[in-house]
Amino acid sequence: MSSNVKVEVKSGLEGVVAADTLLSSVDGEAGELIIAGYPLDEFAGKATFEETLHLLWNGSFPTAGQLDHLHSSLASNRSLPDATKQLLNAAAKDQVSTMDALRMGIDTLSLEGSSSPSVGDDKSYALRLMARIPTIIAFYHRARTGQAPVEPDESLGEAANYLYMLAGERPDDEHVRALDTYLNTVIDHGLNASTFTARVIASTASDLVSALVGAVGALKGPLHGGAPGPALDMVFEIGSPERAEPYIREKLERGERLMGFGHRVYKVRDPRADVLADAATRLLERGAADASLYDLVRHVEQTALRLLEEYKPGRRLQTNVEFYTALVLHTIGLETEIFTPTFAMSRAAGWTAHYFEQQATGRIIRPQSIYSGKHDGKWVPIAER
Ligand code: ACO
Repeated sequence: MSSNVKVEVKSGLEGVVAADTLLSSVDGEAGELIIAGYPLDEFAGKATFEETLHLLWNGSFPTAGQLDHLHSSLASNRSLPDATKQLLNAAAKDQVSTMDALRMGIDTLSLEGSSSPSVGDDKSYALRLMARIPTIIAFYHRARTGQAPVEPDESLGEAANYLYMLAGERPDDEHVRALDTYLNTVIDHGLNASTFTARVIASTASDLVSALVGAVGALKGPLHGGAPGPALDMVFEIGSPERAEPYIREKLERGERLMGFGHRVYKVRDPRADVLADAATRLLERGAADASLYDLVRHVEQTALRLLEEYKPGRRLQTNVEFYTALVLHTIGLETEIFTPTFAMSRAAGWTAHYFEQQATGRIIRPQSIYSGKHDGKWVPIAER
């Protein structure tokens, strides 16, 4: 590119369209999220995670027979190879974060033969990886907290088995419903940073494990999937409604960001926050949630929105998915440390679907940069520098 051509850099690639997809549509002005043809609120509270996985991978919700087949394919592939367990046990000794352990754990699945440059559209291979992700998280969580691992239970669906492997006891039906709702809610979301990462890796005809490992690394950051833990910490630090305003004001005065608010695309309320707020209300109505925490979360949200408008007028900062993620996942008994890994367990369905879609295009993703350094450097021998 000639240096005298004026080219605008799209900071953060904002507004740049880099993929044509059938997987999801995010309308940031209307506050609408469509997953493979279905508005999120149409199915999130009703479908199981497996049904939504089938929708994303095949373009339709499964028939009863297809669902049975999907369930047994996942359930029979959940156990971890020994090499993965050894790696996770070693990581637990050093108390590595669960996201780092998940990233390394997925990488070990290459030992089972993903070294070919492309897995094409072999969904059985992707299913095997999907089946093992929840087991990696649960195995590692228990190892890190000094508990013996719980073997997966083939009779349970994905959400129920995940809760079972984490806690070691059969989960409450309401908790399973809330987790299915959560997993459905975050399964895919346009060209977010982790999905873009997965697509870039797929575009080079690299393998699926590499795409998942890269995507987990991108999701981990607090500006993307790492926000719900800090969002809940903020609510606990606030502790009582009257402390919300001084606490948030102080944070904004210091120029800090409030986790769980703001979004690159949504300029109105994130529709996923609504779905999860409804899931939290349902847990509360059925006596499966802490009413005082729920009231505090509502109060903190209202205070944060009011103060964000005062300190950042016109930026249209609204509640994003992470704020209510924290409430729902905490209520069903998950520890903060595994909020983001649980996000990854769901989003892996989206990453794999995007991987297949991107590979089908056969085109490498390769944007450009503008060089703004000097052009007249002269070699100086090392002794003279
Ligand atoms: N708290 C306070 N101020 C904020 C926040 C926030 N949460 N979000 C944005 N702002 C401010 C910025 O400081 C900036 O102010 P300025 O105009 O005075 O410089 C303005 O709003 C615009 O912010 P950008 O950084 O340009 O917005 P961008 O689209 O790049 O960032 C992001 C979006 C990363 C989500 C941001 O809103 C943020 O950091 N939020 C908090 C982290 C979070 O909740 N992440 C989860 C997102 S959802 C997900 O990924 C699943």
